[in-house]
Amino acid sequence: MDKIKFNFKNRTALITGGAQGFGYDIAKRFLESGAKVIIWDIDAKMIEKAEKDLNNSDLISNLVDVSNYNEVENSVNDIIRNSNIDILVNNAGITGPTASLWEYDLEMWKKVVDINLMGTFHCCKAIVPNMIKNNYGRIVNVASVAGKDGNANASAYSVGKAGAIGLTKSLGKELADKNISVNAVTPAGAKTRILDQMTKEHVQRMLSKVPRGRFLEVEEFTSLVCWLSSEENTFSTAAVFDISGGRSTY
Ligand SMILES: NC(=O)c1ccc[n+]([C@@H]2O[C@H](COP(=O)([O-])OP(=O)(O)OC[C@H]3O[C@@H](n4cnc5c(N)ncnc54)[C@H](O)[C@@H]3O)[C@@H](O)[C@H]2O)c1
Repeated sequence: MDKIKFNFKNRTALITGGAQGFGYDIAKRFLESGAKVIIWDIDAKMIEKAEKDLNNSDLISNLVDVSNYNEVENSVNDIIRNSNIDILVNNAGITGPTASLWEYDLEMWKKVVDINLMGTFHCCKAIVPNMIKNNYGRIVNVASVAGKDGNANASAYSVGKAGAIGLTKSLGKELADKNISVNAVTPAGAKTRILDQMTKEHVQRMLSKVPRGRFLEVEEFTSLVCWLSSEENTFSTAAVFDISGGRSTY
């Protein structure tokens, strides 16, 4: 199948959690489409591997923990000294362990919410002023069907992603009079490293709910993120785009 050609020339995109999985594939497609790309991640080994595999002078990658606001703000200030940030993909996330709410470790619950929700808030808070100044921005927040449905034994993750959806709706409206869009995407399960954090039974249960009867392919996800990140997306904002193979039809 021929891929649609996107044009990201003269655009700078920041992708959090971009060293592997969804984020890596988005970075690859953005680079192929002419963008300058900045990857943030906390996994130094995977950053090194991504840099080697992508082998592109338009790529910069940094160790940044999105749950730490000071790190986010300092890194944003470094970037905007030389360039605007046109596209932000808030993709960094963890599921945390599979456990009932009453048995969930307190620190782990907080960590899952800190990364999935606070990380998204931190990056938007630090970057939106630059987008307003430039009157251009495309923000894509990677949520999950878990944030719409509320998955049993994944309360922290479901809350973090539901929060990211609420944030998307609020911020999208706050910026609607500018050429800045803010949208969320809600994928179903895809075979990335994140699945290792959950039990096999939990992953099987997720898959059994998908009418398409299979995992989402990473490239299918990237394609949706590309359109939402493109200049052609001039109207959709504050919205939630489903990519769950028919699971969450609302
Ligand atoms: N794969 C799926 O089944 C699935 C389904 C729905 C939603 N999602 C969401 O998609 C996004 C990407 O997940 P993935 O499947 O590619 O997983 P992944 O584990 O392959 O990649 C996530 C990346 O985020 C990085 N990361 C984690 N915490 C971070 C932090 N504090 N700061 C910066 N980077 C951090 C990790 O090091 C990793 O490289 C996540 O938000 C995830 O919740 C994934």
